[in-house]
Formats: sequence, C-alpha cells, structure tokens
Amino acid sequence: MKIFLPDTEATLRLGITLGECLTPGNVILLEGDLGAGKTTLVQGIGKGLGITEPIVSPTFTLINEYTEGRLPLYHLDLYRLEPQEVPSLNLESYWEGVEVTPGIVAIEWAEQMPYKPDSYLSISLTYKYEGDVYDGLPLRQAEIIPFNCAIDKILAAIYGRIQNSL
Ligand SMILES: Nc1ncnc2c1ncn2[C@@H]1O[C@H](COP(=O)(O)OP(=O)(O)OP(=O)(O)O)[C@@H](O)[C@H]1O
Ligand SMILES: [Mg+2]
Repeated sequence: MKIFLPDTEATLRLGITLGECLTPGNVILLEGDLGAGKTTLVQGIGKGLGITEPIVSPTFTLINEYTEGRLPLYHLDLYRLEPQEVPSLNLESYWEGVEVTPGIVAIEWAEQMPYKPDSYLSISLTYKYEGDVYDGLPLRQAEIIPFNCAIDKILAAIYGRIQNSL
C-alpha cells in the first residue's frame, strides 16, 4: 500500500493512525533516506499511543523509551551503527518482550539490521525531486508492506482517515 504524504502533517497523521491501532509486540521497520520523515512518523505513532512527552530522534542515544502511553514505545535509530554491531544490542528482547514490557518497537535505518523479526511492518519513506513533484515540492510517499502480520485493521483505519480527509 502506498500513501501520498504532501506535508509533515500527513506523515504525522499516518503515524497517529498507526499508534491508535498497533498491538503489543508490533515492530515497525522504517527505511528511507536522510530526512525522509522517519522520526516524524514515530512522533505521530507516539501521539496515537497517547504519549505527550516530546519524541526526539534517538540518533545519538540509539534507543529512547516512552512508557506513558497506551503501550510502551521503544524508538531506535541504527544510523550510527555498523551492521556487525547490531546483534550485540539484543534487539529481539524488545519485540519478544523479554525483560521489557511488550510494546511497540519502531526502528529507523532498519536497512542496517543483519536479521529481522519473524513478523513486522515495513514502512519505506521516499521522496523524489525529479519528475514527480507536487506544487514544486518533492513527492513524498510511504510504502507499507506487512511481513507475516495481519494489518487489516490498520489498513481499514488508514483508508477511513484518507476518506475522511477528502
Ligand atoms: N510528508 C512530508 N512532507 C514534507 N516534509 C516532511 C514530511 N514528513 C516530514 N517532513 C519534514 O522533513 C524533515 C525531516 O524529517 P525527519 O527528521 O522525520 O526525517 P528522518 O527520516 O527521521 O531523518 P534522519 O534520516 O535524519 O533520521 C522535518 O523537518 C519534517 O518536518
Ligand atoms: Mg530520524
């Protein structure tokens, strides 16, 4: 499923919808170039979960945990790591809920992961400057691909939102 994201608000809205529908243990793997909107999407997810604390990029901290919402949010950013450094982080403890309360795991720069969970939602954010432009701005879009996870409810909510905003 591809969704057109004309502005920052649209990225936030998509995140909010996800944050309202996701269930414990859901993993969102975010891919996309520098500045594509990955952190913005996670800020929306946080809002949808009911987190009021500002969600900031974990580029330097690697992981930020937010526990005030409907479910805990574990926000990771692998940008500064080499793929061979990733296994030592023991990321699976987050999605398996081992020694951490099961929640939502959102990982920026998931391209860096040498292995992935058994089930996850891949969200790839892209922008193009040539050809596809909207009001002189690059065309931004999100492509959502579920891997081994049922997202009928999420897709229905996204479609509902899109229709309501038409
Ligand atoms: N759909 C959109 N249209 C226009 N601007 C957007 C959109 N989504 C996000 N932005 C803007 O793009 C900028 C970068 O966003 P963001 O920090 O979320 O990107 P990122 O993918 O997390 O970057 P990084 O690779 O550095 O982690 C922000 O100023 C944000 O407001
Ligand atoms: Mg970011």
